[in-house]
Amino acid sequence: NVLFFIIDDLRPALGCYDYPKVLSPNIDQLASHSVKFMNAHVQQTVCGPSRTSFLTSRRPDTTRLYDFGSYWRNHAGNYTSLPQHFKENGYFTYSIGKVFHPGICSNYNDDYPLSWSKPAYHPPTQQYKMKPVCPGADGKLHMNLLCPVNVSTQPEHSLPDIQSTEHALQMIKSFSMDKTQPFFLAVGFHKPHIPYKFPEEYLDLYPLSEIDLAPNPFIPPDLPLVAFSPYTQMRIREDVAALNLSFPFGPIPTEFQRKIRQHYYSSVTYTDSMVGKVLQQLEDSGFADDTIIVLMGDHGWSLGEHGDWCKYENFEVVTRVPLLVHIPGMTDAYHRKASKFNYIDLLKTRGNKIAFSASGPHSNGLVEAVDLYPTLAELAQIPIPPTCPENPFNVSLNQWLRNAKKIRKKYLFLEYDNSFFLTISAVSWKSAVFSQYPRPSDYPQENTDLPNLKDIRIMGYTMRTHHHRFTEWVTFDPVHFFANFSQIHARELYLRDSDPLEIYNVANLEMYSGLVSKLHT
Ligand SMILES: *[C@@H]1O[C@H](CO)[C@@H](O)[C@H](O)[C@H]1NC(C)=O
Ligand SMILES: *[C@@H]1O[C@H](CO)[C@@H](O)[C@H](O)[C@H]1NC(C)=O
Ligand SMILES: *[C@@H]1O[C@H](CO)[C@@H](O)[C@H](O)[C@H]1NC(C)=O
Ligand SMILES: *[C@@H]1O[C@H](CO)[C@@H](O)[C@H](O)[C@H]1NC(C)=O
Ligand SMILES: *[C@@H]1O[C@H](CO)[C@@H](O)[C@H](O)[C@H]1NC(C)=O
Repeated sequence: NVLFFIIDDLRPALGCYDYPKVLSPNIDQLASHSVKFMNAHVQQTVCGPSRTSFLTSRRPDTTRLYDFGSYWRNHAGNYTSLPQHFKENGYFTYSIGKVFHPGICSNYNDDYPLSWSKPAYHPPTQQYKMKPVCPGADGKLHMNLLCPVNVSTQPEHSLPDIQSTEHALQMIKSFSMDKTQPFFLAVGFHKPHIPYKFPEEYLDLYPLSEIDLAPNPFIPPDLPLVAFSPYTQMRIREDVAALNLSFPFGPIPTEFQRKIRQHYYSSVTYTDSMVGKVLQQLEDSGFADDTIIVLMGDHGWSLGEHGDWCKYENFEVVTRVPLLVHIPGMTDAYHRKASKFNYIDLLKTRGNKIAFSASGPHSNGLVEAVDLYPTLAELAQIPIPPTCPENPFNVSLNQWLRNAKKIRKKYLFLEYDNSFFLTISAVSWKSAVFSQYPRPSDYPQENTDLPNLKDIRIMGYTMRTHHHRFTEWVTFDPVHFFANFSQIHARELYLRDSDPLEIYNVANLEMYSGLVSKLHT
């Protein structure tokens, strides 16, 4: 079986990704039995295009989806989706919550019936996303960004991810009644996407006085403005609008920045708790040892880095995602106990940290969200679909996994040594990974974050190598889908070894012209 968690706007702000501020014991527990990819990147940093890309294993230039305005089968090519491929190979496939981006991107039906064995489940309370349901200081309800709630006062006395979790538990129980058909279950959680609407108890885990600010909270002086996203989606929330931020650059007042981070962390911990409940059910239903589990963010999220918020960019903080792949009998062999997935309820333990000193294997190799599809196919031993003919990026993660298997044999004697952090970094993998983001103009304007296809004039292509991030913003023709690399609007080059926060754009320095020219080629 396959259990695929896709988490909206989750950057690697997790304990297991060395982000100790955030409490994520259930995901950390999963990580301790999984391969943890330290350098996984998505192909475009916004939900619809990213999901269509990794669910078809094709880059946005092949799905031709850069906005929310088309369905790939009609608009680009009738590509077989990841769940469709499993369905056609005998699996019962089912989607809970946000997996495909809803709406026209997935034909208003989550690509049912081609991708799924029965219609997708959407939590009914998701309809309140843009509704005033957040209690404000004035005693009234508002459409706020910061929205901790007493769940029993909410419509239907629930929240979307609580409903999706309850539904997932039911489904997994029903799978255990009849084990004749393998399943591919995708569970898409809505948090930590804005608004930060979550059970208010989670906020108590994060005293405001202990919340950090971004280490690089300013717009870098050498940043081409085409790279900047004015975080419009955040500004339309009532509590943010009340700040009277100047457009496009803000800034957001420091105390409010702290609150945004506090509420993001709380939302992550709430989501972690939902993941934990699903995993516990998987184990209780007897599936823990024959289910491949994937957990991934659909893109990252900026929490004030570069003076910026949201996604809609080409920086590391938004292209990089957590990616865990649990392979029974392989990645869980290191620290095997009787049970793998015990739900950890932080609200009961009052935030007492449960440390997973035992870490699973991890890879520092550069991998991309488009690699997931062939990887899962190979792991499940179903055919790997033929490579897209024009696509030169012809790889699956399994080369790494095959090597990892050999290495595991070599290190198997360390199985019981919980303090040993197994690092597998010598295995060579991709030398570069790619993402892209469209813009309507060189200077930030109202539709900069989410331009419609017809308004796209510039495409920012970014390439992450082991030592650099290189970005070129080039003229783009949205009618012929043509990116003209002879018309460069701006370039960015960050030397990641000395500048991991991507503050100093050195693309225009004479001493790097040779490197720029090489990366351009
Ligand atoms: C795509 O292919 C499927 C068969 O795999 C077919 O049922 C469907 O109608 C096709 N859709 C389009 C838009 O061509
Ligand atoms: C949440 O709301 C319910 C119903 O109004 C109330 O009984 C309960 O005391 C509230 N909980 C908290 C912690 O305020
Ligand atoms: C924002 O502008 C409104 C209307 O001009 C004013 O009433 C309010 O005090 C301002 N808020 C802040 C935080 O400056
Ligand atoms: C892609 O992989 C297939 C199968 O391994 C191989 O036949 C083909 O030559 C490869 N194409 C490229 C461009 O490397
Ligand atoms: C690409 O840009 C170059 C340089 O401005 C120009 O000469 C060429 O015509 C453009 N190509 C297309 C197809 O627009």
